Amino acid sequence: MYELLKRDGAARRGRLHTVHGVIETPVFMNVGTAAAIKGAVSTEDLERIGTQVELSNTYHLHVRPGDQIIRKLGGLHKFMSWEKPILTDSGGFQVFSLAGLRRIKEEGVYFNSHIDGKKIFMGPEESMQIQSNLASTIAMAFDECPSSVADREYMERSVARTTRWLERCKREMDRLNSLTDTINRHQMLFGINQGGVYEDIRISHAKEIADMDLDGYAVGGLAVGESHEEMYRILDAVVPHLPQEKPIYLMGVGTPANILEAVDRGVDFFDCVYPSRNGRHGHVYTKQGKRNLFNAKYELDERPIEEGCQCPACRRYSRAYIRHLLKAKEMLGMRLCVLHNLYFYNHLMEEIRQAIEEGRFKEYKKKTLEGLQGGKS
Ligand code: GUN
Ligand code: ZN
Repeated sequence: MYELLKRDGAARRGRLHTVHGVIETPVFMNVGTAAAIKGAVSTEDLERIGTQVELSNTYHLHVRPGDQIIRKLGGLHKFMSWEKPILTDSGGFQVFSLAGLRRIKEEGVYFNSHIDGKKIFMGPEESMQIQSNLASTIAMAFDECPSSVADREYMERSVARTTRWLERCKREMDRLNSLTDTINRHQMLFGINQGGVYEDIRISHAKEIADMDLDGYAVGGLAVGESHEEMYRILDAVVPHLPQEKPIYLMGVGTPANILEAVDRGVDFFDCVYPSRNGRHGHVYTKQGKRNLFNAKYELDERPIEEGCQCPACRRYSRAYIRHLLKAKEMLGMRLCVLHNLYFYNHLMEEIRQAIEEGRFKEYKKKTLEGLQGGKS
């Protein structure tokens, strides 16, 4: 159940109640694709850096170790020792971005595993069954994420199929949640809006899925090559047509600036690989923009990554030391950068929530964007 606590302009401060506890929104979900946050970050670390929701992928866990294995081990929460909410992406997007040869049919997608090339079929029912075996808190609908340059005709056909797939997802999820041997019988289902950069297709799709009474609504198919301005234009067009009494999730986004702009347009949920991926390359976020810790100017810099930051890296270690670890290819270097970056994102969301509560989100956004522009993002 989603509780809308406060509106500040279009920005929303809310609370999603789940069987695994409450999610305070706006929230940034920390990406652990294969049930692990890359950079040797443990679930104990996640607790220390303020993570509310962990995100894993249906496709990856189906291929390895196998969702049946995870089901036998009591579900993903028990498997990875994480009690708070988990969202699983449906596999749709990963099949399109990772798998080699693939064929999209009405029944689903035929493709080859990126691990061993084995032939796999995944359709809406299979995706729901896998996510039910994983027993995540929130399951995502099985969708097609078309290329950002897909033409209108392709987009219309694709979106119509994604709608039919969503109806099948809903029916299958209802069935799975009614079975007595299902691990999480309160699994939620979020639908996904598609339509590329075509505002009218986006809006008619949003209206169609709005009536399906899902637990939440995502905007997919963005941040796939279009400009930031185009992404904001699509959000401006589509978010008002999604049910306002449900949480709204912008998939795979993005930079701190993207998040501030999307919150300002009514988005509540985010996820992105940037903080962990950048951290693994020694790129760290600060309120003054991104820094590259490989830079020679940090060789003798005894300050923490960001002064005042309360993350496990900044509380103890200097830029000079972390730079040394990175250059020596010591795993600890990556790990500290990832911990800092995830803490930075989680903390940014905490500040956003506070600003909305206090009715000063616009002012907070302006000030924060000005600071971030000192760097690159
Ligand atoms: N992650 C980022 N974009 C998408 C999308 O369009 N669909 C799905 N399922 N996952 C995503
Ligand atoms: Zn820090």
